[in-house]
Parts: sequence; structure tokens; C-alpha cells
Amino acid sequence: MKRYNVGIVGASGAVGEELALVLEEQKFPVAKFVPLASARSAGETISFGGKDYEILETTDEVFAKEQIEIAFFSAGGNVSARYVPSAVKAGALVIDNTSHFRMESDVPLVVPEVNSEDIALYKKRGIIANPNCSTIQMVHILAPLHRAFGIERVDVSTYQAVSGAGKKGVDELFTQMRHIVNFNIQECEAEVFAHRIALNAIPHIDVFLDNDYTKEEMKMINETNKIMHTNIPISATCVRVPVLRSHSESITIRFKDAIDSARVKEVLKNAPSVVLVDDVKNNQYPMPLIATETDQTYVGRIRVDNFDSRILHLWCVADQLRVGAATNAVRIAQKWIEL
Ligand code: A2P
Repeated sequence: MKRYNVGIVGASGAVGEELALVLEEQKFPVAKFVPLASARSAGETISFGGKDYEILETTDEVFAKEQIEIAFFSAGGNVSARYVPSAVKAGALVIDNTSHFRMESDVPLVVPEVNSEDIALYKKRGIIANPNCSTIQMVHILAPLHRAFGIERVDVSTYQAVSGAGKKGVDELFTQMRHIVNFNIQECEAEVFAHRIALNAIPHIDVFLDNDYTKEEMKMINETNKIMHTNIPISATCVRVPVLRSHSESITIRFKDAIDSARVKEVLKNAPSVVLVDDVKNNQYPMPLIATETDQTYVGRIRVDNFDSRILHLWCVADQLRVGAATNAVRIAQKWIEL
């Protein structure tokens, strides 16, 4: 079996570290592992497959010099804008975790359980985009339901963990919680988030746009339809909550016809990468604590609306660093290898 030289740009970050773990767990055929970051952490080491590797600085030349064949990018949109062209020029397949290329028409945006056939379009640019974390877990649920029953409209509210903002988001929550337990609440400073996140909920992720939605909300709307090849009306409200890891979503779906929860449960029970946890009599439903450090999207609280039999409500949770980023990226790479 062919083995590949694999680079991770942003290897020292929250998603980058998870990428290394998932590649290792999945026994991805790695010939050479090349962790890349900024000059700040170049020279530090990162372990992969039981060995320590030195982090190299991301430069235009490093991709050709290290003969990288698959480059995962998870260092933010600006870094992707700056260095993806050099990686592609050096002959690497780029799997980009940022939003930079996602909506470009000649770049496939892929969730392998939903549209793996789009991977073949990578040839146009040498880039495959990994969707937004909240979008990935939502389409794990919506795609099988749309195929089975036909969806007419979706309304979603998210409850997103601080690690979605990277390690600095986690540090900010920890620091503020320390101040709070020490009764120094006035010392809490908000730098990463617009307001104090400890003991709070902030309906603001990414920047506000002219239409009063945030960029995160518009990503969920536009990316979902690109991945599913649909034009479904969707509205989203994205909220940051003081959870360390794993995003939750309350989703309301209107179908073409009346629906019943037993049929929905049957479809979701058999959907790839989805786990049904819906036993309310025993207080069993999805929560960040059960989804964290796993590779599945958990779904539960499935119920038909009290006033309209075409409307269904449900709750889904997934580890956004894995399902919403690293695991999806590695699943894309695995499918690409099979082409
Ligand atoms: P570094 O550790 O050198 O700052 P997170 O999402 O957890 O905040 O991590 C962001 C990742 O992106 C880190 O690995 C960080 O590396 C990397 N990064 C940030 N800026 C650059 C840059 N200009 N070039 C390459 N990598 C970068």
C-alpha cells in the first residue's frame, strides 16, 4: 500500500493536535509526518506514532522541500490564503479546514458520509475544503432525513464550545473560572470572546454581517446547501456557551409531509457516523460529555411538533474538534486515497 508524506499546518493548535491523533488512530498510511506552525512554535516537538517530531516553520518552500503529498491546513483563513497556493504548486493535495476556499465553485466542500462523490472535483484546484464544525454534525443528521422524507425548511440554534475558538478560547474560560472560584470576578477579562464567557452565553460567533446574521450563521446556511446540493431555506442562531468541547444543536425541521418520530429514529439509527441516544425515561440524551473525544454525531430528543405534524424537533451533539474538523478531514483523505 502506498504511504504518503503528510503535513499539518497548524500542528500546534487545537485542531492540528487532534489531526495527528486521528491519523495515528486510523493508522493512516503516513510515510513522513511533517508538523508545521508559525515561527513562534518552530523548533518545539510534537509526538506522532510514538516518536517526537520537530515543528517546522510554514514557508513557501517547505512543501516542496519536505515533498509533502497531503497537506492539512488548520491555522486560520489568512494562513490558508497565504500558503495553500505554495502547497498546491508543490504538488500536494490540500485539505483545508478554514472557511477561505469553502464557497468557491471549483473547490469541493465535503462531508464523506454525505457527498463523497464531490471529492473527485479536487482535480480542478488541488484543494478539498472541510466544512464548518457546526455544519458537519448538522448534515450528518439532515442528509439522511432529506433523502428519506424531503426537507422543506430548517431552523437551528447552536450551543458551541469554547475550543471552537482554538486553545486561546479554552485558556480564556479556564482563567475566568479561576477568578470566579477565587471570588475575583472583577478580574475576568474578555479578549477572545466579546464578553465574559464564564457563567454566560454569547449569541455572537465570528463577525456580524450586513444582514444582522453572523458569519458563522451564514456558513451553516450556505455550506449545508452546497454539501447537500439543495436550496433549502435555513436559519441559524449560533451561541457560544461555557462548554469546553463538543457543540450542541437544537434543530427544527419542516418536512414536505407529516412525519412520525419512529420513522425518523429508524432512519437515524442506520445513518453513517450517527448514534441515536433517545431514552428520555432513563434520562438518556446526547450531551457534550458523552460526545467528547469520539468520532460520532449523537442525536436524541426527537419529537414531533405539538401544532404541526410536518415539523420535527431534535438535539444533536458532536465533538467539533474531531467530527467537526480532524476526523472529517482524515475521512476525506481516506476517500481520496481510494479514488
Ligand atoms: P503557533 O503555535 O506557532 O502559533 P488554535 O486554533 O489552537 O489557536 O491554533 C492555531 C494554529 O495555527 C497553531 O498551530 C498556530 O501555530 C498556527 N498558526 C498561527 N499563525 C500561523 C502562521 N502565520 N503560519 C503558520 N501557522 C500559524
